[in-house]
Amino acid sequence: MHYQNFGLVNTTNIFKKALSGGYAIPAFNFYNLETLQAILQAATITQSPIILAVSESALKYMDENILIGMIAGAKYKKGQIVLHLDHGHSFESCKHAIDLGFSSVMFDGSALPLHKNISISKKIINYAHKFNVSVETELGVLSGIEDKNTKSKQSEYTDPETAKYFVKETGTDSLAIAIGTSHGIHKLKTNYDNLRFDILEQIVKLIPNIPLVLHGASTVPSQFVNTINKFGGKISHAKGIPAQQIRKAIKFHITKVNIDSDLRLAFMSSLRAQLSKNNNITDPRFFLTEAKNTITKLCISEIQNIMGSGNKI
Ligand code: G3H
Ligand code: 13P
Ligand code: ZN
Repeated sequence: MHYQNFGLVNTTNIFKKALSGGYAIPAFNFYNLETLQAILQAATITQSPIILAVSESALKYMDENILIGMIAGAKYKKGQIVLHLDHGHSFESCKHAIDLGFSSVMFDGSALPLHKNISISKKIINYAHKFNVSVETELGVLSGIEDKNTKSKQSEYTDPETAKYFVKETGTDSLAIAIGTSHGIHKLKTNYDNLRFDILEQIVKLIPNIPLVLHGASTVPSQFVNTINKFGGKISHAKGIPAQQIRKAIKFHITKVNIDSDLRLAFMSSLRAQLSKNNNITDPRFFLTEAKNTITKLCISEIQNIMGSGNKI
């Protein structure tokens, strides 16, 4: 099925507007009905364009037919929603997502040798563009764990000259870069203080028209971590990227900001708190409604206080 049948859009126009308008589009990861509903509710309230990000493992978890059923049945404004494969690891995986009805795919070839990253990226872009699907590629490896297929202990920042070459060779629609962020709730100590804005600035100088993507951009709000710990969790040394650093990066052409961990924390903090406060309630929908509301509030806050994408449909 083609994505237009679901009322979805690719990233071309929303990125163009965001790049010239100096704001970013949030890419929120989801993996079940509740997270999808919570994100869509935030999109409706803020009138923000939103990228619904689905990892390979989330696609498997939800069952692709159920996912497509939910997307086909959901209501949203025309021009508002992108369905995006997050961290696709092969041509087959990206092709499959496109054939299912995704409007955007990411090929993560960051762990591959450059020539291999370029050749697979080109093959995917070639296929995707036949269906008007946007493609994000990645250069430079994020520290931490990208997911179970891409592991790296040490951050390898994106080299600006290589980025220019990569964009020219592949014709990518957007580029994920490594400037010090990392996935998960334990951002590296050295990264916490400052992202590499010097590298970002050089990249922008060399490829000024390419929308740039920041993965691993969760702020890891301390209130969620504290609530989780208060109600039986055991999380230590959690650290996010300060919001003000992300806002600064958005001024330097970061056009898509990926957030997954913050939503997980919102979900789990709500569940833990409500479960321990309501020992007599046995209807899961009570707890899941609370969790959904917590995620919606978080997404609204990030849209309004970090992305600046509210009322930009
Ligand atoms: O960047 C990776 C995302 O956080 C997805 O993680 O494969 O556990 O869904 P996941
Ligand atoms: P966080 O772990 O910082 O939320 O990053 C998510 C991400 O980059 C998804 O691709
Ligand atoms: Zn990522």
